[in-house]
Amino acid sequence: MTIMATKCPDYKVTVVDISEERINAWNSDKLPIFEPGLLERVLKARGKNLFFSTEIDRCIDEADIIFVSVNTPTKMFGEGAGKAVDLQFIEQTARRIKENAKSNKIVVEKSTIPVRAAETLAKILHSGNNSVQFEILSNPEFMAEGTGVRDMEAPDRILIGSMDTPSGLAARNILMDVYLHWVPKERLITTNLWSSELSKLVSNAFLAQRISSINTIASICEVTGADVTEVSRAVGMDSRIGAKFLNAGPGFGGSCFRKDILNLVYLCEYYQLNEIAAFWEQVVTLNDYQVERYVKRILQAMFNTLVGKKLAVFGFAFKPDTGDTRDAPAIYICKRLLEEKAFLNITDPHALNNARKDLQDIEEGVDFIEDPYQAVEGAHGIALITEWASYKKLDYQKIFDKMEKPAFIFDGRNHLDHKALYEIGFNVYPIGKPALKHL
Ligand code: UGA
Repeated sequence: MTIMATKCPDYKVTVVDISEERINAWNSDKLPIFEPGLLERVLKARGKNLFFSTEIDRCIDEADIIFVSVNTPTKMFGEGAGKAVDLQFIEQTARRIKENAKSNKIVVEKSTIPVRAAETLAKILHSGNNSVQFEILSNPEFMAEGTGVRDMEAPDRILIGSMDTPSGLAARNILMDVYLHWVPKERLITTNLWSSELSKLVSNAFLAQRISSINTIASICEVTGADVTEVSRAVGMDSRIGAKFLNAGPGFGGSCFRKDILNLVYLCEYYQLNEIAAFWEQVVTLNDYQVERYVKRILQAMFNTLVGKKLAVFGFAFKPDTGDTRDAPAIYICKRLLEEKAFLNITDPHALNNARKDLQDIEEGVDFIEDPYQAVEGAHGIALITEWASYKKLDYQKIFDKMEKPAFIFDGRNHLDHKALYEIGFNVYPIGKPALKHL
């Protein structure tokens, strides 16, 4: 919405939320999320045509277009628990819009939701007194965290799904006009509502599937002496395959991939497409396997015991350039390492507050340390889980000197210069490549 406001000075954009704390943060200079380039854009538009408010009812009534961007977590109870999407916030929002709208509205699904969720939205909005007309559009969001500003300012595509009725198409054109302020026409795609909803799930499923695929190849590389980076490069240069999203790692994280695939699996099961459900579920199963494999590699390398050993964990965010730790592989990895009775010094440039919350039930064995040099003091090994650019610039000789020997480094992202580390004296364990060891 910030990008929309900066690109469309002729529109007034108001972001509303039930959390006063969050809205206060959006109105301050300390935004509630870390996203490169966002603060300067908020400062540019805030108070001019961008506003943050908790006055939800008034803002509903004033708006012509309402973007529904509430969270749609995996349902953890009852029917479909663990897979289906919990639509309670979508439904509550629809009811609130219905109650407060006194003029016609275009309601846009921005949240990722199951296919045909627009139907639920429509049923609520069109129930009872029909003096106000609602037109529902699907406009899924494809931006990724850490690159949100860039993705929004120069999107690969903007997808708008609508009903194929005169009023549906008219609403679609109104939303297209918003994006045409800065997105080239050829990047705007229009489809029917259901294709748009499904395309969002499929995009995330395909991306996650590429990661699980390359992670399976990493396992093969480790036992055969092949190098997964070389294989990715060779494979990715085929323009039919493409080079992106072929980096092996400790498993994907974030608030979307697991949730969206499980949602797709649930959809398949609902329609009794059981083989197809099993195919997609395997992407998640392999991701869990990859996390566990990373832990096992650490354990095996460090003589099959971590009891009393100290490990410095480099990076806790699910990816660099964000403080977000939702479903981050680091959560599972750290819990497993603690189970093995290791001591952990966790460091991360932006995610330590979230890391503390994620591990709040753990009473001992873990410290959160801002300075990586302090985190490695007396450590037996380093587990690099998030590829922050700053980790490349550290003085690894200085780090080596502070560590217990033999010193190990488990580069879960193939982010560092392994040969240089080996020459310093580290035993280096990359992902999907043979280890470089002095032992
Ligand atoms: C993802 C999609 O990329 C966005 O297009 C989508 O809009 C978003 O979900 C969403 O549905 O909201 P995001 O979760 O922010 O975006 O981050 P990604 O860049 O996709 O990374 C997800 C995870 O995959 C991270 O843990 C990352 O480290 C991992 N990853 C990514 C790999 O392990 N290897 C790769 O080659 C790429």
